[in-house]
Amino acid sequence: MTPQKDKLTIQGGIPVRSKPFPGWPVWDEREEKALLDTLHSGIWGAAGEESQVDLFEGEFAQAHQAKYGRCVFNGTAALEVSLRAINIDYGDEVIVPAYTFLATATACLMVGAIPVFVDIDPNTYNLDPDKIEAALTPRTRAIIPVHIGGNPADMDRINEIAHRHHLWVIEDACQAHGAAWKGQRVGAIGDLGCFSFQSSKNINAGEGGIILTNNEELAEMCWSIRNCGRIRQGKWYQHEVLGGNFRMTAWQAAILHAQLSRFEELARRREENGLYLAECLAQVDGFQPLARDERVTQHGYHLFICRYDSAAFNGLPRQSFLEALQAEGIPCSEGYLPLYRMKAIQDGTRRLKHFLSQEDQAKTEPDCPVTERACYSEGVWFTQTMLLGTHADIDDIVTAVMKVKHLSPEL
Ligand SMILES: Cc1ncc(COP(=O)(O)O)c(C=O)c1O
Repeated sequence: MTPQKDKLTIQGGIPVRSKPFPGWPVWDEREEKALLDTLHSGIWGAAGEESQVDLFEGEFAQAHQAKYGRCVFNGTAALEVSLRAINIDYGDEVIVPAYTFLATATACLMVGAIPVFVDIDPNTYNLDPDKIEAALTPRTRAIIPVHIGGNPADMDRINEIAHRHHLWVIEDACQAHGAAWKGQRVGAIGDLGCFSFQSSKNINAGEGGIILTNNEELAEMCWSIRNCGRIRQGKWYQHEVLGGNFRMTAWQAAILHAQLSRFEELARRREENGLYLAECLAQVDGFQPLARDERVTQHGYHLFICRYDSAAFNGLPRQSFLEALQAEGIPCSEGYLPLYRMKAIQDGTRRLKHFLSQEDQAKTEPDCPVTERACYSEGVWFTQTMLLGTHADIDDIVTAVMKVKHLSPEL
């Protein structure tokens, strides 16, 4: 891993790496059998206690030390059903981190609630617990911490603040399959937890989602809301709760069952390679992985996010760094833009502003300098599949970063 003396690839040099990182998704005869079994069963929907969907939600919940699982068709739906289950109403406010995927905030808007953006911790890019209380108003009903990239948020502080202010906690664990906080897997540390099985996710069925909870009443509400408002003992056309059709198909559940069977092995490999990459990067001034709290006992490693400091790279802007690194054969990206700057969010929020007093409106204006920095100059993402190879693959990442650093004055 010594810095290379030749030219950067964007200047005509030889790339550090010319072969691809491991591909995604992975599958074998387990997925093939699961799909054929589903085909031949004739049960393609979510029907029945012994259906693929019921079986998968039980095993996923168990793998996350949660009592109940409720499958839905994607992670966005999981958030929306969860918000409906705790009865979030028009004009309610929900605390969300400003640095996350769009759906964390749009799920709130879709049920008529206002997402209130709170800045992130500079070391972890997770919701900063120190900033939550200043954003609370009498309308605040819930907090949605996001375990960004699979790195658990500080659930001790967030649950404590929520209890003190009588707020619900919905974990957005859409990127955090298998991640654990003090030995407890995420998802049921708060009141409800949402996961995604969209194509890029560490357990994947193309699309899919699940809600976990230890609360029987909430589990039943989620069951009803995703199932057109039916109740278990009711008649087929008896609808007691305002809900919709958020159901997962048996095809998705069959694939997910097969994916789950190799999940722990892949999670161990990501964890091992993630720790190795962090250790190797310790020697690279100005390119450091996000901090991992000592209470994180397992990182989900959906993303491996680093903080880039252009000053340590001779003033090389992040965009030029990314382009140089990509040319060396290392896929990487800048990641999110601040959510509160999205037109979709601004338009959606404006529609609901009449629910707020002037004073409340002032409080919901975001002030998120750490998010701005993460989005516009600092954050660099590597994806989970890059952690599925060997130490030699990881060494290539470090070699390429050091090569760009060493040769950046020439750019
Ligand atoms: C943090 C976060 N929340 C919510 C979602 C939404 O999940 P889905 O794409 O399955 O709707 C995603 C998925 O990308 C996510 O990363």
